[in-house]
Parts: sequence; structure tokens; C-alpha cells
Amino acid sequence: MTADFTALVLEEEGGKVRASVKALPVASLPEGDVSVAIAYSTLNYKDGMIVNGLGRMVRNYPHVPGIDFVGTVEESASPAFKPGDKVILTGWRVGEIHWGGYAQKARVKAAWLVPLPAGLTPVRAMAIGTAGFTAMLSLMALEEHGLHPSAGEVLVTGASGGLGSVAVALLAAQGYAVAASTGRPELHGYLRDLGAATILDRAELVPSPFLEDGKPGQPLGSERWAGAIDTVGGATLTTLIATMKYWSSIAVCGLASGSELHASLLPFLLRGVNLLGIESGTCQMPRRAQAWERLTKELPMAALDRMTAIAPLRDVPKLASEILLGRVRGRTVIDVNA
Ligand SMILES: NC(=O)c1ccc[n+]([C@@H]2O[C@H](COP(=O)([O-])OP(=O)(O)OC[C@H]3O[C@@H](n4cnc5c(N)ncnc54)[C@H](OP(=O)(O)O)[C@@H]3O)[C@@H](O)[C@H]2O)c1
Repeated sequence: MTADFTALVLEEEGGKVRASVKALPVASLPEGDVSVAIAYSTLNYKDGMIVNGLGRMVRNYPHVPGIDFVGTVEESASPAFKPGDKVILTGWRVGEIHWGGYAQKARVKAAWLVPLPAGLTPVRAMAIGTAGFTAMLSLMALEEHGLHPSAGEVLVTGASGGLGSVAVALLAAQGYAVAASTGRPELHGYLRDLGAATILDRAELVPSPFLEDGKPGQPLGSERWAGAIDTVGGATLTTLIATMKYWSSIAVCGLASGSELHASLLPFLLRGVNLLGIESGTCQMPRRAQAWERLTKELPMAALDRMTAIAPLRDVPKLASEILLGRVRGRTVIDVNA
């Protein structure tokens, strides 16, 4: 290994977090049994929060953020990996309490790594990244609760974002009738191109007709959705709960509009609606590997390429602010060596 590597470093001063690209000595890497030369990381909503010092997810500064990466094993004290192996990391609080992927090098636990599936390039692995992996976990949870393409329309909220874009493409490729909710009219064509059959303006869901002064009001609306992948939360989720079909499920995976939920229990008791919590970070290894295998086989790679932009490490601070404002379209791969 060379003595230094480049990383995006967060430092805290007077309660404010500042990000800058710096050279760090290899000796500064945290403990772990596998050292990885990173090729790419990505931009996720959580990265936006961490780089901007929000959410109190980072315990100690200076800190190297980046909640996912793909790279090549350089050194391994674990029999599970050897130098030259290509590996993916998402979750396990890497980039939060452990140094992460916005760097040319990382040292992590072998138990956190997934071998790069055959047939998936490193850049596409990170085009999928945490957001796309979570989209697949959401689809898997919905299917396990009975969703199938003939059940009816499936709604994806926050559809032009990273998780939402992968969810739209994935569902459409499986033959689902996908409805995509977005606040960006200029991206309707983009969403249709990914496979959305119907586009909803997010204003159709919020303000929620099922809230009165922020409290649950009328509990039920007309049944519409056979399933939903909700990346937005808040009042959007209130509307979804009240308009789901009998025995249908919502994969609750995001909070882009808020983390509070005010809703009546009646849709659960009178229509058998399910809320399925999705947590990608601690997803156990067999399911993790299964999700990556399915993504490799089932996600249309041409659609993935269309939703993906590549940016250099130095652009992360700017992009981290933009993603919090809902201004980033699809997925952004971060080239840590550019
Ligand atoms: N559970 C997990 O394990 C897990 C894993 C990954 C991500 N997540 C969560 O999933 C969410 C999406 O992540 P991401 O990385 O895909 O972020 P993203 O690219 O920023 O996507 C979020 C999308 O939500 C919509 N949105 C933003 N602000 C909104 C608002 N105030 N009201 C309604 N819609 C709004 C926008 O889509 P439109 O412009 O199309 O409306 C935006 O593109 C985040 O909350 C993230 O924390 C959870």
C-alpha cells in the first residue's frame, strides 16, 4: 500500500461540520480485517445528511463519510476474502460510526462485505448502491406479502430520486403496472422512460385528505394501490395507507418529507393493510447476497445507466446539499479516484 490516500474528510468546529478533500496516511484507517482499494462510492440521502452534519449519525470527527463502496481487496486477514477480490459494501453504519467510502481506501470487517456478483461491473454496482439495494429489499418484502403483477397498480413515491428510480425500473421490468409520484413535472418523461405507466403529481397525495389539522381525519378513501414503495413518509404515507387495496402492503423505506406518521388504525383493521419496515443497513448476509443476485439479473442495465451520473469526489459537498433539497435525479456514482 502507498503511504497516503485521498479522502473527503469531515471536521467539526464550533458545532459546524466542514468537508474537504485531504490526503490521509494509511495508518489512520480504522481497525478491520480487510483493506480495500475503493473504485466508486455513491450519493444517498443519508450521505447528504452526514456531510451536512445532520442527524447526529457521526460520533467522532475527523470522519470519512460515504455509506457504500465497491473496490478490490488489497489485504485480508479473513479466509473469506483474498487480495484481488472485488467486493461491495453497503450499510453496517459504515460512513456513520465507521470510516466510509468517500476515500481511495477503507479498512472494514470481512463480515460486512458482499462479493461483487459475476456479470455486474463495479460502476453499475454503485449505480445501484444503498438506494438500489433498498429498492430490491422493498420489492422482496412486498412479494413475500403476496404482491404479484396481476394484483394491480404499484405506487412508488419520490420516484425521481435514487431509491425511487431503481424501484420504478425494477417493478416495471417484473411486469408491474407502476405509478410514479413526483414533485418534478420536468422529469415525467424520464420516469416514463424507466417504465412508469402512470405519473402522479405529488400534490395529489399531499396535503393529505386524510388529515385534519395534522391529525387523522377521514380514515379510508377509495381503494387504489395493490402495493407501494414509499421513500417519502410523513403525510404522503398517511394518504397511501388510506387508499391501499384490501390485504395490500406498503414497503416503508424513506422519510424524504418527514419521519412522523399520523394515521387512523382503521385501514389496518378493516382492510388488512400492512406496513413493512425496510432496513437495509443490517440486512443479514444470505438475504443480502440474494438481493444483489436478483438486482444483477432483474434490473434492466440500460435503464440503470440512463438514471446514473458520475461525479468526482470533490463534488460531494455540493451534491450532498442538493440531494437534501430533492434536486438530484436518479443515482450519482462518486469516482473517488477522479
Ligand atoms: N430504509 C433504508 O434502509 C433506506 C436505504 C436508503 C434510503 N433510505 C431513505 O429513502 C429515502 C430516499 O433516499 P434516496 O437516497 O433515494 O434520496 P433522493 O435521491 O433524494 O430521493 C428522495 C426523493 O423524494 C422526493 N422528495 C424530496 N423531498 C420531498 C418532500 N419534501 N416531499 C415529498 N417528496 C420529496 C424527491 O422525488 P421527486 O422529485 O420525484 O418527488 C426526491 O428525489 C430517504 O429518506 C432515505 O433516507 C432508506
